[in-house]
Amino acid sequence: MKPGLGRGWWLLALPLALGTLGFGADDSVPWPLGTSPTELDLVEWVAAEHIVADRERFEEFLEAAEVGEDTEHITVRQEDIDAGYFSLERLFLFGDAAFTHEFRRLDGYGRSELPRIHRVHDGHTGGLDTFSCAGCHQQGGVNGSGAKTASALYFADGVHASSAVVRNPPNVLGLGLVQKLGAEMTTLLRYARDGALAEAALSGAPVTVPLEAKGVTFGVIVARPDGTVETSKVEGVDPDLEVKPFGWKGHTARLRRFAERAALVHFGIQSHVLALGYQAKPDPSLGPGPQWWDPDNDGVQQELSEGTLTAYALYMEQLEVPIALPPSDEGLRERAAYGSALFRDIGCATCHQESLSLIDASWYERSDTTEGAPVLVGLLTDGEHPRGGSNVRIFSDLKRHHMGERLADPHDDPDGIGRDVFLTRPLWGLAESAPYLHDGRAQTIGEAVAAHGGEAQSAADLFSALSEDDRVNIQLYLLSLSRMPRLRVPQ
Ligand code: HEC
Ligand code: HEC
Repeated sequence: MKPGLGRGWWLLALPLALGTLGFGADDSVPWPLGTSPTELDLVEWVAAEHIVADRERFEEFLEAAEVGEDTEHITVRQEDIDAGYFSLERLFLFGDAAFTHEFRRLDGYGRSELPRIHRVHDGHTGGLDTFSCAGCHQQGGVNGSGAKTASALYFADGVHASSAVVRNPPNVLGLGLVQKLGAEMTTLLRYARDGALAEAALSGAPVTVPLEAKGVTFGVIVARPDGTVETSKVEGVDPDLEVKPFGWKGHTARLRRFAERAALVHFGIQSHVLALGYQAKPDPSLGPGPQWWDPDNDGVQQELSEGTLTAYALYMEQLEVPIALPPSDEGLRERAAYGSALFRDIGCATCHQESLSLIDASWYERSDTTEGAPVLVGLLTDGEHPRGGSNVRIFSDLKRHHMGERLADPHDDPDGIGRDVFLTRPLWGLAESAPYLHDGRAQTIGEAVAAHGGEAQSAADLFSALSEDDRVNIQLYLLSLSRMPRLRVPQ
């Protein structure tokens, strides 16, 4: 697992020795951490960062002298990936460059009209919001969450911020594991459904089965002998039983699809895969066409090659995983450990499940349109060496819940998920992700919990009934959920 490099960031991952934490110290992911770096390590790391910074400075000069140079660094042909021309490390670097790349006109930034930043989105089509992924995902370091000002104002009338569905950017760390957990849950749920269908066909009578994956229940499904299923009692997941762990509402299952959507909405950059889809069926949200190879009619074709989508996905799949950093003060550490017990006692962990077990930590990144062999990534190693499963300390059940009127969006959105329905937000990395909640309305953990309603009402009530000290104990526990500290060297 790697830290993102980022352009112009002098940030070093600094693994810390934590010894026994008093809680959570086992061989789960992300526990335990490595050992303290020696002075020699630090010297080497700083030297390595100097080299990276020098290279980046040179690239900036080069880009000024030969416009388009930077774009070449992020354009990857899927056919070349399929042919095995690139190592995983190289694809990670392509993804890193793409994450920090500032899209502009020559890349196809914007749509047919003159590109302009327009934070209050207009219907489906979106901003434009800014120029790079890192422009929003940068709190607490590159690949981080977003400040309140980086919130996106989706599905609005183009004028009034109050008409928008507001979303604050989460960080993009550990997402390879999240994607794989979701995919394994999907397989388990569909396995139960298919088993029930087979049984119903055999017995000639409807079969009702409870849906459960990794200890999380998703209601029940009724399989009928004619091969259809009744899904009205399915909970927390779409009727197709695909667990979609990304986005505050849990609307997307694959990182390559998320990157594609982000580039489209925030930059007006259309992936080759979307353009191919346009060929089959024009989609007004992509633009007026009329040519399939340039749906937004801005004169640029192949704005985002399919290989670049693969690089984005492989990059995020290999990024560092959030870690636990309990307070170093012994008294506070004890309080945090006590807070962890309270967190379970009052029912927070029914949704924010502290760990989900991963069966297999390898991932095959498949292309959408070519026949090449998928790229294999080891999610818990340096990428090259897959290993078995693990407990992933994610603090989520990856299930959607009704959260009550206070948290509800102002209106429905095109994903068709209820206004007050949100996916249990994974709490790992929490300490570096303020402001909290889907719209970034909460400045503190206490405020975030106070806004919980609906299915979380009783846990929120129990939280508010605790003594002030105990509420702080829970917060100390949650503030231990952080990310690799980074050494920041001023430029
Ligand atoms: C305008 C700010 C902004 C920019 C630019 C941006 N994002 Fe995001 N990102 C967000 C917001 C807001 C969300 C939450 C969206 C939601 O819930 O639907 C998000 C969510 C994500 C997620 C899902 C994380 C999770 O845990 O659910 C991924 C992955 C992601 N972004 C990747 C990218 C990539 C890749 C790019 C560049 C192509 C990018 N983002 C550019 C604001 C931004
Ligand atoms: C019914 C399921 C459920 C229960 C129970 C629950 N939560 Fe949540 N939690 C969620 C969901 C869903 C979100 C995202 C809501 C949103 O953004 O609108 C969330 C968000 C949060 C956040 C903000 C995360 C972020 O990154 O912004 C914190 C902190 C939090 N919960 C803590 C708690 C604590 C502490 C408890 C126990 C008192 C608790 N939750 C109980 C479902 C639950």
